[in-house]
Amino acid sequence: MKPVDLVISGGRLVSPDAIASQSIAVDAGKIVGIGTTEQMPPAREQIDANGLYVLPGAIDVHVHFREPGFAHKETWTTATQAAAVGGITTVFDMPNTNPPTSSVEALVQKIAIAERQAIVNFGIYGNIGEHNRDQLKPMVEAGAVSFKLYMGSENPLVPCPPDGAILDAFDVLAGLGIRCTVHAENTPILMWRGERLIRSGRRDAAAHLEQHSDIATIEAVSRTAIFSEWTGCKVHIAHESTRHSLPHIRFAKQRGVDITVETCPQYLFLSTDDGARLGPNFLRVKPPVREPGHKEPLWQALVEGTIDILSTDHAPHLREEKLRDPIWDCAPGFPGVETSMRLMLTEVSRGRLTLPQYVRMACSAPAKAFGLYPRKGTLAEGADADIVLVDMNKREIIKADRLHSIGNATPYEGFEVTGAPVRTIVRGKTVAMNGQPIGEPGWGRNVARVS
Ligand code: DOR
Ligand code: ZN
Repeated sequence: MKPVDLVISGGRLVSPDAIASQSIAVDAGKIVGIGTTEQMPPAREQIDANGLYVLPGAIDVHVHFREPGFAHKETWTTATQAAAVGGITTVFDMPNTNPPTSSVEALVQKIAIAERQAIVNFGIYGNIGEHNRDQLKPMVEAGAVSFKLYMGSENPLVPCPPDGAILDAFDVLAGLGIRCTVHAENTPILMWRGERLIRSGRRDAAAHLEQHSDIATIEAVSRTAIFSEWTGCKVHIAHESTRHSLPHIRFAKQRGVDITVETCPQYLFLSTDDGARLGPNFLRVKPPVREPGHKEPLWQALVEGTIDILSTDHAPHLREEKLRDPIWDCAPGFPGVETSMRLMLTEVSRGRLTLPQYVRMACSAPAKAFGLYPRKGTLAEGADADIVLVDMNKREIIKADRLHSIGNATPYEGFEVTGAPVRTIVRGKTVAMNGQPIGEPGWGRNVARVS
């Protein structure tokens, strides 16, 4: 038999429906065989995965990697190093950079930055604006993986378009068969309440929660589903934060709307109770971390599949930006790509979910939702060799100063985790090992282009 590049033997392979002891042969960046150790061809590199689980690399469809424009918070090098160490092999980057990714020109600029620096694969979101409908198809042709709609926005770089423009954009994306990711909050509610709260002198953390009341999300989730149903544009709800959305999501799915939904670790592991530990302003994120009663229903919805996908909304800021006062000046969001898998594996070890369920929400469901399956998101012959080896016995304590992001202000400081990615492989090449990134900047590919 002709030798291949790599054989990973002795591990337990995890798919959404099973765990099986099998070996994997990899050649030219692809999985070329799965079977018993005896069936494996000779290989130039051997990895002994005895005692480890072998998962498809995680696909995070919601990250903010900050370049161009905000390199003091994060660069594509540091962010993809953090992702690689965290077991994530593909990321989709959001368009709220400077310039925002609202034109072919801005998209081409961002792809060039990512191509130079990334050590994991990437997709780039185009932004849906009020005036860029003519750019949507050209952006797809230039390599955009999908589009982001800031339906809830206070950011002048990516303002919320009027509903008429949203419908027009959805018509275009329906024709292209592209799913649109939506930040589902109602902008007029955010603006009205924000101004009223500021005028009345509020500057405390609770005012942020009042501004971003559940109703702003519920309304926008429902409107997104209705616009999707009317136009035929597939949609994806970003960062679901409230249990009050769940009946509306279920109703949309029951009537056949092509809607997928994600949530993130901050809505599963944190609540307003964590304000005391972290300092109340530190918790600021949009949409907000809410009262404790939301976590359990969101977990249930994720495990049963009403919420399809686990993403991170990796949104790093400097610590001093997170500690600002009043609350309106505090930068919203947290880093997430390096800690997400560890947090979730800890819950696997506690019995809250199974490894196959984790693979479904973190690997196969995102690949299916965004048209990458079965090239990515699964361990199967012919798939890209994006693979993560997991040690379920590894115990660690999360510490901000050990994370690779520049904006490393994690809300999980001091969390004891059980289970960790110990080796991350992107297209057949190891890019991180035992907590250290070793990939070459430039190894990451744009997944919107078949490499
Ligand atoms: O909390 C957030 N942070 N929500 C967003 O929508 C944007 C993000 C960021 O870019 O910092
Ligand atoms: Zn985001």
